[in-house]
Amino acid sequence: MKLLSFAASFREQGNNHTLAQLADGIARGAGAEVEHIPYASLEAPFYREDAPDAKVPSGILAFAEKLRDADGLMIAAPEHNWSFPASLKNMIDWLSTLQENPLANKTALLMCATPSRRGGIAGLLQLRVPLEVLGCWVYPQVVGIGNVYKTLSAESISDAKDMAFLTQSVQDFVRITGLFCKGQS
Ligand SMILES: Cc1cc2nc3c(=O)[nH]c(=O)nc-3n(C[C@H](O)[C@H](O)[C@H](O)COP(=O)(O)O)c2cc1C
Repeated sequence: MKLLSFAASFREQGNNHTLAQLADGIARGAGAEVEHIPYASLEAPFYREDAPDAKVPSGILAFAEKLRDADGLMIAAPEHNWSFPASLKNMIDWLSTLQENPLANKTALLMCATPSRRGGIAGLLQLRVPLEVLGCWVYPQVVGIGNVYKTLSAESISDAKDMAFLTQSVQDFVRITGLFCKGQS
């Protein structure tokens, strides 16, 4: 089973990058092959419907190719003003303009690392919507990890409940993605 993973933050050392790397390790431990995608490679100008002949950015095309060949996607997205980052919405919009929708029939696990105590869940619930509209199956429980400057490191999350929740969610996501793979073969 192949998973793609990225943090929707241009800060390569940011909290969501750290969370994504933790999730990658757990998923690999559960038997998945995981490719981590640098978010900078997905940077794209705003999609403009009044420029229909505009070239799809090469990074978006390359990601779409990888996505077609993958079974699922793990996204760690920062919360921006109780929603998810505009750059991520723009990336999804570009993907949706491609002839063959690369998000269809993929699974997705949504995560957020934030300094706030709420854990970024408001943003993740909004991120579900365009992904589901485009045919993704989104794991029911989003993984919001709060208070990250005190608890999150490259090795672990010191809050035991949060670490257990992340581990159990990623392992279960890998299990369910495996069931999707079997169903499609
Ligand atoms: C424009 C903007 C809006 C933000 N809005 C929120 C928010 O609504 N909720 C929240 O918990 N954090 C918010 N933050 C703080 C981010 O969660 C925090 O900076 C986070 O560490 C960013 O992710 P990164 O470290 O992966 O880059 C916001 C940050 C920015 C720049």
